Amino acid sequence: MSVSFETRGNVAVALVDRPPVNAIDAGVRAGLLDAIARAAADPAIDALVVACVGRTFMSGADLSELGSSIPPPPYAALLGALENFAKPVIAAMHGTPMGGGVEIAMACHYRCATAGTRLGMPEITLGILPGAGGTQRLPRLVGIEGALDLLLSGAPIDAKRARELGLIDEIIGDDVVEGGVGFARQLIERRAGARPTRARPAPPPLSESMIAAAVARHARGLKGRTTQNLVFESLRAASDLPFDEGLKLEARLSANSLETIESRALRHVFFAERACGRIPGIESSSAPTPEVRRAAVIGAGTMGSGIAMALADGGVSVSLIERNQAALDRGLKIISDNYTQSMQRGRIDAATAAARRALIQGSLAFESARDADVVIEAVFEDFDLKRSVLAQIDPIVRPDAVIASNTSSLSMTALASLVARPERVIGLHFFSPAHVMRLLEIVRGARTSDATILFALALAKKLRKVGVVVGDGFGFVGNRMMLDGYFREAEVMLLEGVAPERIDAVMEQFGFAMGPNRVNDMAGVDVGTRVRAELAKRESRPPPYHVVSDSLTALGHLGQKTGRGIYRYEASDRTPLPNPELKLLTQALAEKYGVAAREVSDEEIQERCVLSLVNIGAQILDEDLAYRAADIDVVWTSGYGFPRWRGGPMFYADTLDIEYVVSRIEKYWPVAPLLRQLASDGRTFADWDRARGS
Ligand SMILES: NC(=O)c1ccc[n+]([C@@H]2O[C@H](COP(=O)([O-])OP(=O)(O)OC[C@H]3O[C@@H](n4cnc5c(N)ncnc54)[C@H](O)[C@@H]3O)[C@@H](O)[C@H]2O)c1
Repeated sequence: MSVSFETRGNVAVALVDRPPVNAIDAGVRAGLLDAIARAAADPAIDALVVACVGRTFMSGADLSELGSSIPPPPYAALLGALENFAKPVIAAMHGTPMGGGVEIAMACHYRCATAGTRLGMPEITLGILPGAGGTQRLPRLVGIEGALDLLLSGAPIDAKRARELGLIDEIIGDDVVEGGVGFARQLIERRAGARPTRARPAPPPLSESMIAAAVARHARGLKGRTTQNLVFESLRAASDLPFDEGLKLEARLSANSLETIESRALRHVFFAERACGRIPGIESSSAPTPEVRRAAVIGAGTMGSGIAMALADGGVSVSLIERNQAALDRGLKIISDNYTQSMQRGRIDAATAAARRALIQGSLAFESARDADVVIEAVFEDFDLKRSVLAQIDPIVRPDAVIASNTSSLSMTALASLVARPERVIGLHFFSPAHVMRLLEIVRGARTSDATILFALALAKKLRKVGVVVGDGFGFVGNRMMLDGYFREAEVMLLEGVAPERIDAVMEQFGFAMGPNRVNDMAGVDVGTRVRAELAKRESRPPPYHVVSDSLTALGHLGQKTGRGIYRYEASDRTPLPNPELKLLTQALAEKYGVAAREVSDEEIQERCVLSLVNIGAQILDEDLAYRAADIDVVWTSGYGFPRWRGGPMFYADTLDIEYVVSRIEKYWPVAPLLRQLASDGRTFADWDRARGS
């Protein structure tokens, strides 16, 4: 039984216990209905408290029930029974009540929560409109603008804010049952009766100016999205229609929202991010979850200092090792400045900043890595240097310690060649800035052991990153697709005479936050040139492979940092301006490499940038460098700015139809064999993933 029933004097308590996060499934709904009936049948009961044991109040709908028809009893029956109960019903919350859990709480008459509670309506992040009365009850409790903010951002708020908004009535002590019962007693004493949310006045009509202001407040998250239109329609119903009619409209819109490509894409990425922690053929449950307490990072440059912060943010203590005092001081200063800035921006409090900073100790000796569970080197991208650093660290560290490299281009298998235990060596490809970017490419070398892979996945989790295990090929997964596909095409189009502004505009329209040329200028044109120079030692690529960027690098036109790159910049201004010099450069290069000027349509720009990703993604799967198509989608949505609401390149191809994708790709490039195979079998990448049992 997932719900127990007890009485404390004249207060009944319905206690939900469905580990791990009290997701609301059929058993929970039935159990709560049962508890309500028992409380109703007992005349000695004056109030009913709904609370949960474990980590949190009901966190939300059971996502596995989504999309199928929801098994009985329906939500509506439960919500109606709570709301129509004759005596006060109190939701007593703790943890992270989300979505359906908050909708249940809103159907109760009163709400209280422990101080640490964070609650929210995150449905929009999955492209879904709440369907259990959320859009009808929320504006009756917090007003229309508060409802707009909660429903459009999807972000949780803390108990204090929830109380200010009117979403909860009282903040209680940490024992949630005791607190809930205490609050119930106060209500009984005050003779506060049942207080159905539905009986509260309807909110004022939603005006166009309110919508415009809310959209402006949440513009970033809503770019390219459509779910917000359902939120507006449903909130309009809350003010315009009788309550029950509003519920009906909401239910219909909510069901429709599940069918949209946007929602399917967002849910695909949500599940893909969870699935990539499971590796086919490696039984993670058989091994204990590895503990990561101490780490050493070698090199305190851009990446090393960011990685040290990522570790400290995850509660791991770090020895940050440099080759000389000046470099170490520079790195430690970057770290201190960063924590001070986060504090000034209100992201963390002073105590947290100090505690995290204190977890990082500088050192000039490899000996400081002696106790580390993991060592991550982030020295210059130089094969001999990195290989020797790994070999030197090997005899110092514990035999079970993991030895990792943050290389972005070198072969992990080759880097491990001088290490006595290559099975403990792995690539941890962090992205810049390492303490912010969510993606961690975990690169398995030829001899990396399963235990080491599991360790890396556990580390990613501890740092709250998505770890995707990839093979040790050219550019791993993300950079290979970017350099051989997306960015390469963007450069060839420059040679064909297409303006960089147009390419960027088309890709921003597609949903990338920034087009490829702006990204190149922002990152520094030389960064790519350096990575490609290393990669060329593994495999060469024929010209005109990135000749524009490489020429700009040679000229010292490195992008924003030098005021000139693909675009031109005024001093201390990041706005890209037209750059007449680029035209001359691309014309000269086009002539040199025999690239003819062409008219290129917007459709072609988009196809060449996006479908090149699909084609190379398929090759990567064929070459066994990624376990699943969905893993590639995670890499691109969490590390390279591919719009999450399009589900990643491989999911996007599925939604376009694979046969159609093949027909377009063959206009430009040889089609990857796997794509042809899928098209002739009438299958999708999702089918391919499923058939592989992943
Ligand atoms: N910058 C990026 O965007 C990025 C992204 C992913 C991966 N990477 C990779 O991360 C690594 C580091 O890149 P970065 O941009 O931080 O470089 P960086 O030049 O900023 O920092 C490298 C640091 O390593 C130190 N170092 C060099 N030799 C050392 C030694 N023997 N012992 C201790 N310290 C030593 C240097 O003093 C320097 O501070 C490279 O392998 C790079 O390819 C970089």
